[in-house]
Amino acid sequence: MYRIAPSLLSADFARLGEEVRDVIDAGADWIHFDVMDNHYVPNLTIGPLVCEAIRPHTSAPIDVHLMVKPVDRIVPDFATAGANVITFHPEASEHVDRTLGLIRDAGCQAGLVFNPATPLDWMDHVMDKLDVVLLMSVNPGFGGQKFIPETLNKLRAARARLDAYEARSGRRILLEIDGGVKTDNIAEIARAGADTFVAGSAVFGAAKASDPHRYDTILGALRAELAAVKA
Ligand code: DX5
Ligand code: ZN
Repeated sequence: MYRIAPSLLSADFARLGEEVRDVIDAGADWIHFDVMDNHYVPNLTIGPLVCEAIRPHTSAPIDVHLMVKPVDRIVPDFATAGANVITFHPEASEHVDRTLGLIRDAGCQAGLVFNPATPLDWMDHVMDKLDVVLLMSVNPGFGGQKFIPETLNKLRAARARLDAYEARSGRRILLEIDGGVKTDNIAEIARAGADTFVAGSAVFGAAKASDPHRYDTILGALRAELAAVKA
């Protein structure tokens, strides 16, 4: 019922394949893959070549978070590189409905990402083309930032919209959260309605490269917090 998606942004980029295998072995569900272009956001990261390079290291879904503008040109490249989920920021696309269609036509699940100040209304007329709604709980561009508390209210509002949609359509859209997720706040974030949790610095910051089981403890702790929510 809950998915944990470690963000590679905080991983060791010199050993990405091993990092991917190790977090999945430790119980992670998805690999979160942050794509930044130094244009839409003030940082520059990784692209389709790196996605393709990590693809053989896991069968877990690769969750590509596009922080790029424009969006459409790069979508097929990530689909070919093995992405399973592709999300983008609506402000970065001239034609949001078209971009969602492009992602789905390429065989991937599609999602919209909402910056802290971006209203949820962007989803209203494209619900049928959404598989994931991702709320940013920090301003995009960097790992290791502090969770913005107002996001809890926004999560509750998004949860209500997605539940209402599920009640009338029978289709469930995932609600993902990204930014500042730690063991000490993941439970309240889940209670506010998130079901999919990106965690970068919390997961990869907790590691000593020499320990082959270095991610078991942190993933176990995040899981234990989530298990307490369900109980
Ligand atoms: C920020 C990225 C996040 C980032 C999260 O723009 O979208 O995925 O890696 O990092 P933490 O968990 O450290 O806030
Ligand atoms: Zn992200």
